[in-house]
Amino acid sequence: MAKLKTAYVCNDCGSEHSRWQGQCNACKEWNTIVEMRLETAKDSKDTQASVRSERFSGYAGATDSSLKTLDQISLTEQPRIASGYQELDRVLGGGIVPGSAILIGGSPGAGKSTLLLQVMCHLAQTMPTLYVTGEESLQQVAMRANRLGLPTDKLKMLSETSVEAICEIANKEQPKIMVIDSIQVVHVSDIQSAPGSVSQVRESAAFLTRFAKQVGVAIFLVGHVTKDGALAGPKVLEHCIDCSIMLDGSTDSRFRTMRSHKNRFGAVNELGVFAMTGKGLKEVRNPSAIFLSRDDEESAGSVVLVLWEGTRPLLVEIQALVDYSQMPNPRRIAVGLEQNRMAILLAVLHRHGGIQMSDQDVFANVVGGVKVTETAADLALLIAMMSSFKNKPLPHNLVVFGEVGLAGEIRPVPSGQERLNEAAKHGFTRAIVPMANVPKVPPANMEVIGVKKLSQAIEALF
Ligand code: TYD
Ligand code: MG
Repeated sequence: MAKLKTAYVCNDCGSEHSRWQGQCNACKEWNTIVEMRLETAKDSKDTQASVRSERFSGYAGATDSSLKTLDQISLTEQPRIASGYQELDRVLGGGIVPGSAILIGGSPGAGKSTLLLQVMCHLAQTMPTLYVTGEESLQQVAMRANRLGLPTDKLKMLSETSVEAICEIANKEQPKIMVIDSIQVVHVSDIQSAPGSVSQVRESAAFLTRFAKQVGVAIFLVGHVTKDGALAGPKVLEHCIDCSIMLDGSTDSRFRTMRSHKNRFGAVNELGVFAMTGKGLKEVRNPSAIFLSRDDEESAGSVVLVLWEGTRPLLVEIQALVDYSQMPNPRRIAVGLEQNRMAILLAVLHRHGGIQMSDQDVFANVVGGVKVTETAADLALLIAMMSSFKNKPLPHNLVVFGEVGLAGEIRPVPSGQERLNEAAKHGFTRAIVPMANVPKVPPANMEVIGVKKLSQAIEALF
């Protein structure tokens, strides 16, 4: 009989505690700690590992466990599999890596099942695939596939929630790509707790990841993100999977953005953009165009910025509203931007631009729900705030980017030339950029103004 050990694990961040407590020490969330039964190392070594490795060793592409030095390892890299969606491939770092475990997280209704169904129906045309659904019935999935007009003849479907049974069937079918929808409804038999609890989610994901590695099948795991203690957040399994992707976007907006938070095979800062339509998720190849849909009227407090997202530029609009405050402590609210950064910029504006906003409420927003983390947004945010404060609209043809230092200097940002080219492509004819980012040959029809100091930028515009 296995000897069991108890641990107290946070449902949100997965950190362990020696006893139960109301608040997690690591992430400071309340009421997220649950008791979890762990098996001892001896037990898992003796029973599970041997059973599992024996069970799947017959699969083509199974790994062997002999000792090797690095140079003895064969480097014949398996080619990546294109998913048929460029946006997804880019976020994955150039396609699906065989034998990898990929977690697709997101709130319910984000479109995870829809996206994976679309991807799998297309992949099924050229390779063996398996879609395991534990959440929806087979009929529901089939109805959706029909409604979306997807090719339905090749994709193998399975309705099952036992991880062992799933792996058993997969071992027979030998798919190249598999989907588990979702990780919160599957369970392994040697753990007693309910599906969706931390220990089940963790063990199931670990089992499936091991299976993926052993047999060389790429597995997509769907995970719902909830604050509710009943379902374990995908955070607890981030360490055992290869790639974690989040599909974001509120259900009342058409657009969904996809970002990877961890990727063993590529960069993590790539952004993929999709639009939810009546016919499922469609790729948005030119996201600048959607985030920039402005009317022609010039309004104070709005300026366009060129961001650098992973490997491509993205044009977004920043809006600011500065208004006299009725409160003893004026409000500073930033949506899609960092609030601390805004406070720093207001201090710089006071000290080096001579403009005081201490009696003003300042609100800033990035249009379209994009989250901006780049410091290249500094100059644009400053200019937007100034424009609203002075109630002076900025020219419609203007783009801005640049980092602002504490001494009021404007610092260069990477990929200046590409940013300017993207802006020129969308019809912008004037740019205010850091002096060091001014190209020798500016894009055609574009006037590029280089600035070294905040005061020069203010002079050029106001
Ligand atoms: P779904 O993929 O079921 O979400 P998840 O698996 O992440 O929980 O997507 C459901 C949402 O997508 C639902 O709110 C309706 C919307 N939707 C469309 O707008 N058009 C469509 O063609 C489909 C299939 C879904
Ligand atoms: Mg779903």
